[in-house]
Amino acid sequence: MSTHIGARPGEIAPHVLLPGDPLRAKWIAETFLDDARCYSEVRGMLGFTGTWRGQPISVQGSGMGQPSLAIYVNELFSEYDVESVIRVGSCGALTGKVALRDIVIASGACTDSAMNRIAFEGLDYAPVADFGLLRAAYDAAHGRMLDVEVHTGLIFSADSFYAARPELTARMVEYGVLAVEMEASALYTLAAKHGGRALAICTVSDHIVTGEHTSAAEREQGFGAMVEIALEAITA
Ligand code: HPA
Repeated sequence: MSTHIGARPGEIAPHVLLPGDPLRAKWIAETFLDDARCYSEVRGMLGFTGTWRGQPISVQGSGMGQPSLAIYVNELFSEYDVESVIRVGSCGALTGKVALRDIVIASGACTDSAMNRIAFEGLDYAPVADFGLLRAAYDAAHGRMLDVEVHTGLIFSADSFYAARPELTARMVEYGVLAVEMEASALYTLAAKHGGRALAICTVSDHIVTGEHTSAAEREQGFGAMVEIALEAITA
């Protein structure tokens, strides 16, 4: 057992999908994996291992925000020999170029978090996706018929869901940022630190410009396509 994950060595697969919501981890395991079993219930942050098309896959909840995600990602890489992590999450669209329910594959993640600034003593590290996972997810997404668009580009990993300075988020958009979420930047940095591979794929659950948001049922369906893309990419 690690400090926050109640799995024994070998119980977590080398490839892990990482939703923020632990109940989504349960839904993914029950919907997509064969022979899934729960390996951790510590703090309600559920984790499961099963198989997808015969390959072992784990699904682990990360919680919301970079400090919570960092706990699970550090322990997955350093104590369970995990090789690849794909975050499957939701995001808010920041520009009219991206529509509600679209999928955003994050090539890189800007942030207002102090985590990297502290780790690099004020230097700006550029957290980017693993290119192999990014290319595999791009191919998986563009090789299927979807009724939503798939965008590949920059996202903004914010520390606050309720932005204190929305004008700064608007400036990010001027520099090409497509969407906001709260986890990818720390995921990319920690994967690099541990020599692992990481990618974040997000479904647009709300639109910051138009004020639209999806219903719970819609989110579940949109989420399904994203999970399939992630499973194909991580096993490619
Ligand atoms: N802000 C931050 N994170 C999010 C949002 C948002 O609007 N939507 C989904 N995750």
